[in-house]
Amino acid sequence: ECIAVNGHLIVPGFIDVHVHLRTPGFEYKETIATGTKAAARGGYSTVVCMPNTRPVLDSKEMIQFVYDSAVKEGNCRVFAYGAITKGELGEELTDMHALKEAGVVGFTDDGVGVQEAAVMRRAMEQAAELGLPIVIHAEDESLAGNGCMNEGEVSRRLGLPGIPGTAESVHVARDILLAKQTGAHLHVCHISDADAVEMVRFAKSQGIRVTAEVTPHHLLLTDEQIDGTDANWKVNPPLRTERDRIACLEALLDGTIDMIATDHAPHTKEEKAKPFQTAPFGFVGLEFAFPLLYTHLVETGKMSLAQLVEKFTTSPAKVFGLPGGTLAEGNPADITILDLSQENVIDPNTFASKGRNTPFKGMKVKGWPILTITAGTITYRA
Ligand code: NCD
Ligand code: ZN
Ligand code: ZN
Ligand code: ZN
Repeated sequence: ECIAVNGHLIVPGFIDVHVHLRTPGFEYKETIATGTKAAARGGYSTVVCMPNTRPVLDSKEMIQFVYDSAVKEGNCRVFAYGAITKGELGEELTDMHALKEAGVVGFTDDGVGVQEAAVMRRAMEQAAELGLPIVIHAEDESLAGNGCMNEGEVSRRLGLPGIPGTAESVHVARDILLAKQTGAHLHVCHISDADAVEMVRFAKSQGIRVTAEVTPHHLLLTDEQIDGTDANWKVNPPLRTERDRIACLEALLDGTIDMIATDHAPHTKEEKAKPFQTAPFGFVGLEFAFPLLYTHLVETGKMSLAQLVEKFTTSPAKVFGLPGGTLAEGNPADITILDLSQENVIDPNTFASKGRNTPFKGMKVKGWPILTITAGTITYRA
């Protein structure tokens, strides 16, 4: 829902369920202070952070550490996913009951991929019992190999090793069937492949409890824009084909994909200056996700403003049981004010995030947040 005042739009504070805050262990890439400041600047009141830190967020103590730090230095509400497995091996299950007690909103293998089906099945059985979602990165590492971009015409032309779409779709199909068997709620992260989207559509039609998110970059960019020299175009899952991009957009419109999440993944300038094959995967996204999509999807008539706002607010709140997401009575005062006529260039030099790694650099977009309020406190004012 939105309220127009003085040419500005009042909407519920945004919610991003996929953010890498990098703390602890990778504070040189991002901290809770800088990541949540970036979130507030982007109009977000709430973020859910990923556990691929060092140490991994695989214990009650680590979750408590993140939540305490967020209270001390945070600039928005922070929730965390607990890791599905301990450490960085993807093998031994965490104590999911203890993680739930510490306040996680789900369990994920993002950044520490679970490959074994039997491990994933046991995780789903436990998550179903605890009533929390399993949030999957969805990548078969044996198919992905050492690929650095989407496998296809472009990767072959550039002579770069590819990651096939099946590395994603095979895992999505498998985990949907495991969710059917275990009764777990499965949430698919950063969906990017047309066949994976089709699997989610089928699962929903069968009444299987599955939800999905898509990133701004998979909605707007394709591998055809990659020249193989600039690692600011390297992300996982990779930018795919126009056919995949359109499939994601259509699925967002028909409700197959529930929400938009940025997968904000900050890396340093030095890391992203490495050759395309060796640089780390990931894009930042918090500070410009809304204006970027407002400009490219709403102003172009592909979706309505109300629908876009829903994908940033009501929908993620509902799927993950998070506070906010609506302006209805009884909700916390999480409010974002947008100036739909304000047009600015996406300029990494102005970011609060330590990360500058985005392929959208230099793009001129409209619809910027000018004020963010979280739990009644102003957290950003332009
Ligand atoms: C993420 C990261 O850097 O932690 N990178 C990425 O390209 N998306 C990991 C992930 O989300 O899979
Ligand atoms: Zn991931
Ligand atoms: Zn991620
Ligand atoms: Zn104004």
